[in-house]
Amino acid sequence: MDKPKLLVVEDDSDLRTQMRWALAQDYEVFQAEDRTSALEVLSKEKPPVVTLDLGLPPRPDGVEEGFRALGDMLEQDGLVKVIIITGQGEKDNALKAIGQGAYDFFCKPIQIEELKVVLNRAFYLSQVEHEHRELQQQRREEGFEGMLGTSSRMQEVFSSIRKVSTAEVPVLIVGESGTGKELVAGAIHRQSSRRESPFVPINCGAIPENLLESELFGHEKGAFTDAHIQRKGRFETAQGGTLFLDEIGELSLSLQVKLLRFLQEQKIERVGGREEILIDARVLAATNKDLKQAISDGKFREDLYYRLGVVTIQLPPLREREEDTLVLATALLQRYASENRKKITGFTKPAIRAIEEHNWPGNIRELENRIKRAVIMAEGSKIAPEDLELVSPYKKYERQGLKEAREALERDFIERAIAKNKGNLTQAASELGLSRPTLYELMEKLGINK
Ligand SMILES: Nc1ncnc2c1ncn2[C@@H]1O[C@H](COP(=O)(O)OP(=O)(O)OP(=O)(O)O)[C@@H](O)[C@H]1O
Ligand SMILES: [Mg+2]
Repeated sequence: MDKPKLLVVEDDSDLRTQMRWALAQDYEVFQAEDRTSALEVLSKEKPPVVTLDLGLPPRPDGVEEGFRALGDMLEQDGLVKVIIITGQGEKDNALKAIGQGAYDFFCKPIQIEELKVVLNRAFYLSQVEHEHRELQQQRREEGFEGMLGTSSRMQEVFSSIRKVSTAEVPVLIVGESGTGKELVAGAIHRQSSRRESPFVPINCGAIPENLLESELFGHEKGAFTDAHIQRKGRFETAQGGTLFLDEIGELSLSLQVKLLRFLQEQKIERVGGREEILIDARVLAATNKDLKQAISDGKFREDLYYRLGVVTIQLPPLREREEDTLVLATALLQRYASENRKKITGFTKPAIRAIEEHNWPGNIRELENRIKRAVIMAEGSKIAPEDLELVSPYKKYERQGLKEAREALERDFIERAIAKNKGNLTQAASELGLSRPTLYELMEKLGINK
């Protein structure tokens, strides 16, 4: 293994040679006699550890040049570990240097074995710091908690998740369908101190209202006809953990009241029960609806909205974070290709363009579906727009003059309307905004069979 690099900054050439001789066995030793050459070696060789004599030329009796060297080196490499070498009775300067960012100090005359202990510790710390920095950078590149995204909008979302996860407040997650709301809810739970307790998701839109109430709050035996046994609801299952109410906009007004009561008093009652049950559960909610609109339509309680949305995390639609789209597409392609054992190396240029131009109304879910399909359909080593079903509508009119293109488009339109209306020309004409005779005329002209 290579020896770690050490820079010795010392203007006394005897001392320099002596240190080099004593340390060369353990380190690759570089030397510098003044500030300028020290900075040169630092930028060229990037030694993680430096020993610095404060008295450097042009004024070897003062310390100004040494302090300047310290400042310059730290500015060049924020992680470099500088060990100040001082004469006897210069402790004050050494401490001042540490205040300005030096790692440690060492008094002359130099005891090499002692110096080695200090150096080894400095190298170790430097390595740990470099590894930590690398991990942080990787995390930034790859995303967070299974969520990919390098765009600043997603970095903001990640940082909000980190901030809110340790707080105990409810969080409202809003965003279009397929933007990752459920993923965010899971991330908040896993980042919180409740991570060892249950995460209980429930989709309020997927369960009929009469069942939802007992699903959420549980019921007592005999509470209604089918209630043969007592049953605990999701609130009780989430005890100590997190309850995720997905599609909260679908919750009926009467259940909104019950939820509000829980948020105010941390208490619930089972359906048909009289006993109040104290629940310690954090509530996260998500919706792709415009709750403000629902409030003004009288479908959502304003007081509940403010209770739930103490903190709101807004997920941007995919089309508003262009730089993420290709990152996501590439990552998903790698995942599905290896799952399907297919050797696919990337996207063709037209496919990249199609991905960038598409509007992604279904957001990441749509992207996942298109790429899953493309991996299965692709014949070559690259994904084409056809594999993604993202062929530009203009493609078939390419290499045609405007007149031919217009006729081809008209023919497509008319044929589609006729097929859709199962051959009923009156209906087809009215859908196309044409009179029946005009439709006949056009069909004649374009050679469409009746
Ligand atoms: N940032 C992301 N990186 C990677 N995958 C993601 C990301 N965001 C979402 N996904 C994936 O996209 C899909 C949709 O995400 P999710 O179910 O969380 O969306 P949603 O907002 O809850 O959608 P809906 O409103 O339709 O329920 C999931 O398969 C999820 O794993
Ligand atoms: Mg969802």
